[in-house]
Amino acid sequence: MYALRRTTQNLAQKRAFSASASQYYKVAVLGAAGGIGQPLSLLLKLSPKVTELALYDVRGAPGVAADISHVNTHSVVKGYAPSEENLAAAVKDAEVVLIPAGVPRKPGMSRDDLFNTNASIVRDLADATAKANPKAKLCIIANPVNSTVPICAEVYKLRGVYNPKTLFGVTTLDVVRASRFISELKGTNPSDEKVTVVGGHSGVTIVPLLSQSNHPDISGEARDALVNRIQFGGDEVVKAKDGAGSATLSMALAGFRMAESLLRAKDGEAGVVEPTFVESPLFKDQGVDFFASNVELGPEGVKEIRGVGDINDYEKGLIDACVTDLKKNIEKGVAFVKTNP
Ligand code: NAI
Repeated sequence: MYALRRTTQNLAQKRAFSASASQYYKVAVLGAAGGIGQPLSLLLKLSPKVTELALYDVRGAPGVAADISHVNTHSVVKGYAPSEENLAAAVKDAEVVLIPAGVPRKPGMSRDDLFNTNASIVRDLADATAKANPKAKLCIIANPVNSTVPICAEVYKLRGVYNPKTLFGVTTLDVVRASRFISELKGTNPSDEKVTVVGGHSGVTIVPLLSQSNHPDISGEARDALVNRIQFGGDEVVKAKDGAGSATLSMALAGFRMAESLLRAKDGEAGVVEPTFVESPLFKDQGVDFFASNVELGPEGVKEIRGVGDINDYEKGLIDACVTDLKKNIEKGVAFVKTNP
């Protein structure tokens, strides 16, 4: 404890003397004891940008916090047992709040099948954040993201604190998978493969734009199979885990990447771009208020929402199917808060 305090003091002194030094930030994880929450919290503990890590869960967060707090990086880790006061304390002053709380899928389930359980969990956690720290960047991991993000927007509107620039559905895993899968097909290094994925975060609402990738030549059955694998890659994990949940480790990596990108942008780094599901003008004329596309991040959150760019007829067809489903998913989330405020 003494050593930890001394390290924190040293850092504070270094910061005071260096005008160009990065800022350090508090990050909160709600659902921190779960399959995603634990590895996500560990990755955040390793980040030099995080000075304080607040871990909240309805069970087990103090234990996870005690464990992670022994990792010898400078940040302080606090675990919070479940209570209204503790939840407020956990999110207070956090720059980023991540919500992986909620049940995961079992084989045969769609993400929408999680709605009945997860909608109220996310609503209540968003409400607590809206009260205690409405300016935090709120990153929703809990599924169905296509509905849980609109739920958060409605909750924030009810509290009169909604700012579309600070609400993000985490869709990073879709591009992580897409770059991995395309590299497997082409025998390349996945870190060289950037695939734009737009739309939403379930099944046909996930739209990979292969024509904009390094391999626009992929066509016919190979293209159909790759698109299907990107759209339904999550099912591979659900099936392999055989009832024990869905993606947790790859998701933790993806959630960490999103959180760190927000902190880098907050620090003033230019050109930080991540795909994310946000309130978006792109398909509003078709009744779709939220849409995932590449978004340039800035200190205030969303800086610029990028359009989908040039796409071919095949991709136009994918977008049409996406928009139809996405509209229903969004409406379902909005309706839930209207009837269950
Ligand atoms: P899990 O069941 O292992 O963990 C969920 C945790 O949330 C548990 O520790 C539980 O105690 C906690 N929790 C439940 N209600 C809570 C509440 N009211 N307040 C605080 N904590 C609460 O589930 P896992 O595998 O970590 O998945 C979590 C969610 O993430 C699921 O909804 C899953 O579908 C979603 N997910 C999202 C992905 C994405 O790409 N956005 C990818 C993979 C999963």
